[in-house]
Amino acid sequence: MTAPDKQHTFDVFDEKWRRARTWAIATEADYRKWYLTRYGYETPDGLAAFLKGRRRILEAGCGQARDSKMFAELNPHAEIIAMDQSPQALEVAAENLKPFPNCQVVREDITTFDWDTSFDFISCDQVLHHTPDPAATLKQLFSHLMPGGVLNFFVCRKKGAARDLADDAIMEWAKKASYDQLWAFAEEVTRFGKALHGLGIADVSFNGVVYPDLQRLVHNLLFRCWYNPNIDFQLSVSSNFDWFSGNPRFNAEEVRDMIATLPEGSYEVTRFYEDDASISVSLTRFR
Ligand SMILES: C[S@@+](CC[C@H](N)C(=O)[O-])C[C@H]1O[C@@H](n2cnc3c(N)ncnc32)[C@H](O)[C@@H]1O
Repeated sequence: MTAPDKQHTFDVFDEKWRRARTWAIATEADYRKWYLTRYGYETPDGLAAFLKGRRRILEAGCGQARDSKMFAELNPHAEIIAMDQSPQALEVAAENLKPFPNCQVVREDITTFDWDTSFDFISCDQVLHHTPDPAATLKQLFSHLMPGGVLNFFVCRKKGAARDLADDAIMEWAKKASYDQLWAFAEEVTRFGKALHGLGIADVSFNGVVYPDLQRLVHNLLFRCWYNPNIDFQLSVSSNFDWFSGNPRFNAEEVRDMIATLPEGSYEVTRFYEDDASISVSLTRFR
């Protein structure tokens, strides 16, 4: 697993957002629940209570700004910056945030922006692992957090020998593929995931774990074939497209090591959430 090349990441995501313009709206309901669960707010009211009194919020790597929209709805008083490198994403983000005058979209590299200002909440969901040196990016975001500020971040998790090996092999091939070739491959694996889901074989047990259906077992253990029956087929394809374009994964120990590079005594980890696919962390800056 090699570190992602920044320009490659930028280009691939711009292409993904060009092809998947309805992603944020189509996945909003699912991902709100997902965000509230993994960061421990549980309900919109729980997140609203956390956001109350926060004045400056940064969504680092916002994509189409689905999370900024949620923060703006729950705290209309905060100044919210939705930051991404992708012009295609930011075009849609600006449209989605139009009803919220307290939001601004900004094209910046989250690994290098150097602003003489800080935030009392930074959310960096599903982005850090896409940067070439996630520990350095973590430090960079932490340096823009004010004392008392909270940083939420996410990385993809190592999954298991077979799945990780298959992912790495496909990602190696994908480095040399054109966008059209990679999209065609993503369509094939999505069709495969759809076919597995269509078999209707539910509650499959393996190794002490019960998977909701056969598609989820194959997807989790053998190779990525993500498929969501509730959204347009091409949106599921878009998710497999960006995954295979390069997606480093980490285990809990590696994430703890990454956090330990922050200045000692300057933060507290308030939540460390791990599921089969990812790890999410909340930390608070003391000073
Ligand atoms: C998987 S998407 C997640 C988007 C959004 N956080 C969400 O949950 O929908 C990753 C995003 O990170 C952005 N990104 C990756 N590296 C970046 C960087 N160095 N600076 C700014 N944005 C970056 C990509 O353009 C992409 O929009």
